[in-house]
Amino acid sequence: NDYFQKPKVSKQQVWEERQLQKAIKEEGTDEIVVADSDKYEFVFDNDAAVEFTQEDEDDILPEKDAEYESLLAEKLEMEENRVKSIQEMRKLLPVYQYRDDLLRSIRENQILIVVGETGSGKTTQLPQYLVEDGYTKAGKLQIAVTQPRRVAATSVAARVADEMNVILGNEVGYSIRFDDKTNDKTILKYMTDGMLLQEVLVDPELKKYSCIMIDEAHERTLATDILLGLLKDILVHRKDLKLLVSSATMNAAKFSHFFNGCPIFNVPGRRFPVDIHYTLQPEANYLQAAISTIFQIHTSQPLPGDILVFLTGQEEIESAREKIEEIAGKVGSSIAPMILAPIYANLPQEQQELIFLKTPSNSRKIVLATNIAETSLTIDGIKFVIDPGYVKENSFVPSTGMTQLVTVPCSRASVDQRAGRAGRVGPGKCYRLFTKWSYYNELELMPKPEILRTNLSSAVLLLLSLGISDLINFSMLDKPSMSSLTSSLEDLYLLGALNSKGKITKLGRIMCEFPCEPQFAKVIHTSATHDQCKGILEECVDTVAMLHETASLFAAQKEQSSDFLGEVTSDHMLYLQIYQEWRDYNYSRAWCRDHKLQYKTLCRVRNIRNQLWKCAEKLGLVAMNEIARREQTDTAAKLPIKLTKCFIAGFPTNIAQLGTTGYRTVGKKSTSGLNVYVHPSSILNKQLRDSARKPSKYVLYQTLMLTSKEFMRDCIPIYDNAWLVEMIPQLFKRKRP
Ligand code: CDP
Ligand code: MG
Repeated sequence: NDYFQKPKVSKQQVWEERQLQKAIKEEGTDEIVVADSDKYEFVFDNDAAVEFTQEDEDDILPEKDAEYESLLAEKLEMEENRVKSIQEMRKLLPVYQYRDDLLRSIRENQILIVVGETGSGKTTQLPQYLVEDGYTKAGKLQIAVTQPRRVAATSVAARVADEMNVILGNEVGYSIRFDDKTNDKTILKYMTDGMLLQEVLVDPELKKYSCIMIDEAHERTLATDILLGLLKDILVHRKDLKLLVSSATMNAAKFSHFFNGCPIFNVPGRRFPVDIHYTLQPEANYLQAAISTIFQIHTSQPLPGDILVFLTGQEEIESAREKIEEIAGKVGSSIAPMILAPIYANLPQEQQELIFLKTPSNSRKIVLATNIAETSLTIDGIKFVIDPGYVKENSFVPSTGMTQLVTVPCSRASVDQRAGRAGRVGPGKCYRLFTKWSYYNELELMPKPEILRTNLSSAVLLLLSLGISDLINFSMLDKPSMSSLTSSLEDLYLLGALNSKGKITKLGRIMCEFPCEPQFAKVIHTSATHDQCKGILEECVDTVAMLHETASLFAAQKEQSSDFLGEVTSDHMLYLQIYQEWRDYNYSRAWCRDHKLQYKTLCRVRNIRNQLWKCAEKLGLVAMNEIARREQTDTAAKLPIKLTKCFIAGFPTNIAQLGTTGYRTVGKKSTSGLNVYVHPSSILNKQLRDSARKPSKYVLYQTLMLTSKEFMRDCIPIYDNAWLVEMIPQLFKRKRP
């Protein structure tokens, strides 16, 4: 294991250093953001970007001259100090004292539940102990650590790679959907629970792993629950496989009970007292209240002492950031500098590091976080927590039969966890923006596991494809209700993934192969195979990829990217056009800037698009599409109609019909009409305003979003209901004349 702790400096690093220094000199500035170190691209604050591509590397790598030697020596010494201090820090974490006990318990038991305070070192240290104890058999086997959240998987992997002194993606890597940073050297793999679930499909016994750690199990995501159910069975066949289930200090007994009373290892944590303050009256506007609390703390409490604010999502966090910046701008230098550090699931990776940077002694860091900071990520230096007491979560809405993201009050267990974040470095304070009465009388005790509040289609399809057809008796921590199982089976049947006997079809298996929801897989499949739609596979794949990233696509309001509007007939066509034009401009950064689009987001879309394309290629869809394309002459003219039809096939229940009082949902028989409105950001709104065209009789939407009203996001108008009859005759019958 000494191998990992030797300081290493590569020729590459010296080269990078040299390029960086050269660039600083030439640009005459010393403020540099390394935007994307994979590509050796240095972006200066004056927006000049110096890009070096991988191909240039061989030409530029330096000869080993005197300058090289001195740079190397300098870097080596820095490295040595860094490695030493990291190893010292590891020993200070609470789990370190229990290292040997833990390893003994793991040796003696096949399954172990590990419980400990957040920040005690479970996620970063335990897997390293396993490596150190030889579980990877000199690189022949791997250790998998699952995380419910993508951000947690990538950021923890980066941290551990750093601690083990290896390059991220080699010995330590991560795997999240559409982004796999592992290679054949990888022994320690941080991954989302969903990715491990996907791996069970390919390798039902998980043969390449010697240990699996299901981390953050208390989060009880759908994927974690299903993994635990599957692992219970896998472990019987694989006596050599170890399972660690780690969790914050809730739910441990339930896990132990599920695994036939397996032992629970408790890691006592340090925790300083936290003063809890409540508001006297309920807050009408918690965002406003949170912002004024930030300024109250900042102006009245001594430094150092960072603030952590729990908000519900990206939009809220960004709007809070703007308001705080605005106020801070007005107050000016009469208060100490504030460093605003947002963290949410879609935050580009290069910005995530900001939350972990040490705060300069004259300033205060304000972390604006979703509940990702509740237990998955530990941020040092937090002394104050502001908790409005809300969380955004998937929730099954019986009236529409759909799962929606809705903002709901947290459970007591959650708000207690959040308060605990203030007491890690010393005594802290937590400001709850709700009343004490509400805490004791209104909050649920525990969060509701996802399996009880979400659409189960993907999960059910996956279990069926694994040959588990007796869903009722499949071993689960909490069993979903009969009605939600039936509803998912109905959805899958409508998609053609199941036949009328409930058996998985060939199409169903194809859907499992795609790294996206079965609905999107159906859209893609339809675009290459359906008589009325085939020939537009590429356009569909581009659109589906764009729909995965719409949340962070526009740098400004959608309407300000107005060059595109007016020409297109739906949000989907707008996304497609944006992608195609960006591609035609050679994926240019400048083009994005001109059109107020986020370059990094489009790069992610490109990556998703390529992976979906590869999958389509493997399944033979590309070849089929080619044949169809060759026979056609009018593809471009028919594109909007064909695209609409493909999405109807994939989302047969996401349809609203125009009535006397506006749009109402139709779709499944079991769900009655709900009044819904086209989202303000949709170009359908603009079209209605600008042209004399009447609203379409039907609208297909991607998601419903409940804010002030039920809004339909990302819409396609459907002018001709013959398309519905044609694509989904199960739901829309032709009216008899
Ligand atoms: O999993 P658990 O909550 O028990 O703790 P952990 O995530 O392993 O974190 C252990 C320590 O590593 C904490 O004190 C964090 O401050 C530190 N850490 C960090 O500094 N940067 C990261 N990206 C991750 C962890
Ligand atoms: Mg952890």
